[in-house]
Amino acid sequence: MRALSGIQPTGRFHWGNYFGAIQQYIHLQDEHEGYYFIADLHALTTVREAELLRTYKREAALDLLALGLDPSKAVLFMQSDVPEVTELTWLLMTCTPMGLLERCHAYKDKKDRGLPADAGLFTYPVLMASDILAYDSNLVPVGQDQVQHIEVCRDLALRFNHQYETSVFVLPEVRLMPTAAKVPGTDGEKMSKSYDNTIELFEEPKAMRKKIMRIATDSRPMDAPKDPDSDHLYQLYQLFASPDQISQMASLYRTGGFGYGEIKKQLADVAENYFAEARSRRQELMARPDTVHDILVDGAKRARAQARKVLDRARQASGIAG
Ligand code: ADP
Ligand code: TRP
Repeated sequence: MRALSGIQPTGRFHWGNYFGAIQQYIHLQDEHEGYYFIADLHALTTVREAELLRTYKREAALDLLALGLDPSKAVLFMQSDVPEVTELTWLLMTCTPMGLLERCHAYKDKKDRGLPADAGLFTYPVLMASDILAYDSNLVPVGQDQVQHIEVCRDLALRFNHQYETSVFVLPEVRLMPTAAKVPGTDGEKMSKSYDNTIELFEEPKAMRKKIMRIATDSRPMDAPKDPDSDHLYQLYQLFASPDQISQMASLYRTGGFGYGEIKKQLADVAENYFAEARSRRQELMARPDTVHDILVDGAKRARAQARKVLDRARQASGIAG
C-alpha cells in the first residue's frame, strides 16, 4: 500500500497542522510506503509574495524533517519539482466537468462571499487529483476538510479510465485522520492561520508561553467544578500530556478550586517538552541547509521516476503519445 499526502506552505506550521496532519504522516511511514510533499503550487493560490513563499517552503521542509519525517522511510519532495504532475493535470482537466468544480468548497465559499476567484483556485482540485494519481497512491491521509477533494479525484480517475477504456489510474481511498477532531485555537475556535488564533510549532518558547497565557477562558469562579471535556484548554492539554497527567487534570477540573493561569502554565510546560527534541533537531538542520536541499533533490528524483510511469500511461491512453 502506498500512502500520499501534501501540505501547503502557506504559513508557519501550527499545533493544528501537526496533530491534524503531520503526526499521521510520521506514524504512517512505518506502516506503508509513503510519499509526502510540500504543495507549493497550491500555495500560489494564496501566497502572492515570492520571498514569503520561499521562506515558508524552506521552513516547511525543515519542520517536517525535524518532526520526524524520515527520508530513508518516505519520499519527501517539493510539489513543483515534479513537472510530470502539471502535465498530467492538463490531461485530467480535459475530462473535468465544470459543474464538479463549481461545487467544490474553496471556490464556492469565495464566490458566495463575493470575492474574486482565479482559475488557479477553481482548478485547484484537478491539480490535487493529479498529485494523488501520479503516484498510484492507495491511501490519502487527510482531514475532513479535504474529503471532498479526494472524491473529486476518484471521480476524475474513473472518468478518464472510462473515457479511454483503460485502467491507467489507481483509485485512491481516503484515510481520515484519527485526530479529525479540530484542534482549538487561542480563541476556542478551530486553530487556523486564517483566524489568527494559532500557536506555531517552533515559536520561541517565551512567545509561545505568552500566547498560551492569552488563551480565552470563561469567567466562572475558581471554586466551581468544571466539565473538562467541554473546555478547550483541557483539550489542548490532552494533546501533549501523558495519560496520568491527563487523568489528574480531569479530576482537578471536576473538583474545582483552581485558576486557569495555573492550567495554562502546565500546558506551556508539557507543550514545550513535547517539541523539545524536534526543536533541537531543527536547529541542527538549520545549520546544514545542504542536507535539506539534498534530501529534497533525492525525493524529487524518486517522485519523478514514479510520476513519469503514470504520465506515460496516460499519454499513451489519450493518444498524445504515438
Ligand atoms: P490552516 O487552516 O491553518 O490554513 P491548512 O488548511 O493548511 O491550515 O491545513 C493543513 C492540514 O492541517 C490539513 O490536513 C488540515 O486538516 C490540518 N489542520 C489544520 N488546522 C487544523 C486544526 N485546527 N485541527 C486539526 N487539523 C487541522
Ligand atoms: N489541499 C491540501 C490541503 O490544503 C493539500 C494537498 C495538495 C494535498 N495536494 C494534495 C493533500 C494531495 C493530499 C493529497 O490540505
